Amino acid sequence: MLDDQTISDLAKAFAAAPDGFLVVDSGHPTFAVLPYQVYQTLKKTKSNNKKIKKILVTGGAGYIGSHTVNLLLKEDFEVVVFDNLSTGRKEAVGDAKLVVGDLADKDALEKLFKKEKFDAIIHFAASIEVEESVANPAKYYQNNVANGLNLLDAMVANGVNRIVFSSSAAVYGEPEKNPIDEDSVCVPTNPYGETKLAFERILKWYGLAYGIHSISLRYFNAAGSMPEAGLGYDRSLKHTHLIPRVLDAALGKTAEINVFGKDYDTSDGTCVRDYIHVLDLADAHIRALAKLQKTPGANVYNVGTGLGSSVLEIIDATVEITGRMIPMKITDRRPGDPAKLVANSKKLQKEFGWKPRHDLKSIIESSWEWQKNT
Ligand SMILES: NC(=O)c1ccc[n+]([C@@H]2O[C@H](COP(=O)([O-])OP(=O)(O)OC[C@H]3O[C@@H](n4cnc5c(N)ncnc54)[C@H](O)[C@@H]3O)[C@@H](O)[C@H]2O)c1
Repeated sequence: MLDDQTISDLAKAFAAAPDGFLVVDSGHPTFAVLPYQVYQTLKKTKSNNKKIKKILVTGGAGYIGSHTVNLLLKEDFEVVVFDNLSTGRKEAVGDAKLVVGDLADKDALEKLFKKEKFDAIIHFAASIEVEESVANPAKYYQNNVANGLNLLDAMVANGVNRIVFSSSAAVYGEPEKNPIDEDSVCVPTNPYGETKLAFERILKWYGLAYGIHSISLRYFNAAGSMPEAGLGYDRSLKHTHLIPRVLDAALGKTAEINVFGKDYDTSDGTCVRDYIHVLDLADAHIRALAKLQKTPGANVYNVGTGLGSSVLEIIDATVEITGRMIPMKITDRRPGDPAKLVANSKKLQKEFGWKPRHDLKSIIESSWEWQKNT
């Protein structure tokens, strides 16, 4: 009798390469003819249960990466950060080892993988601005796809076969329904989302061909900070995310907050998003490593709270928390902004035992603490 994992592996292998033959009786495979390539992949996908201890974190000096590094160190992982510091801060990696380098540099990657023996990779490094990706898609395909391939090729060449990848809700585009589950259709509306989806697909094929096991985490809107650890978004960068922009208006650093469109099909006409605390995101990565140790293949999970907040609700909550006036101006919609993006994260909750522990109030309070002091 085959165990559940083998049955699930077989089903996946046939879905990906359906040129075999599988007889199922009362829900159980009784007879299978496999193409040799599929058989080899199955063999490779069995061998990933070595304990994960030493992690390479690409982009670990950035916003989400640095919070995750902080948690990894607390959980006693050995952490090496590889970051070109284009948007990251070297102070943010704490006691982790920092290697300053660029994923475009294959020699630097080869040197790193020869020197250090990693059990798994967490891959945050990317270019992340949606509007910029529309104006300059070349930068996004280069950094998020081509440079990511350099990383995967270094993994394959050096026998490292486990990776957690920072994907995004941007892969869904304008969803047909909310909350969005992982089986929803993916039609990205901008190059940023396209590059994230492309990399997820590359991971699937690298899994089948080279035995790379992956978990892609599709984050919704990351927000919040950890001011007590000196961690938050880099204040020297121009912010396009809503909460830092609203707080800038509360601090008087900008004259007002632009609200892009008030005629959406939502309760108050403004866009609704699922804001997830960066510490809950960091926690999902720790659990993903544990899952990766037991689960072969390429798997995808949403990471969000399942709760949506409109732009006006964020502004109201910020007024209440900061006690400041926040001038706002209603302007035209931005092209490509979906009305509502809210996660169904039941798969993550069920399979990882994960639950969001921070609410919107804690997101705004921690961001306020961080932003007024930096
Ligand atoms: N912030 C969000 O709300 C959000 C939502 C969904 C997905 N994501 C994804 O999460 C990941 C982290 O996002 P973030 O908000 O922390 O962004 P960030 O810009 O703060 O972090 C990215 C890090 O990667 C580094 N980096 C970029 N290109 C590199 C390269 N070629 N070589 C080496 N280092 C490089 C940067 O210096 C930075 O430290 C990204 O992959 C992003 O697409 C973020």
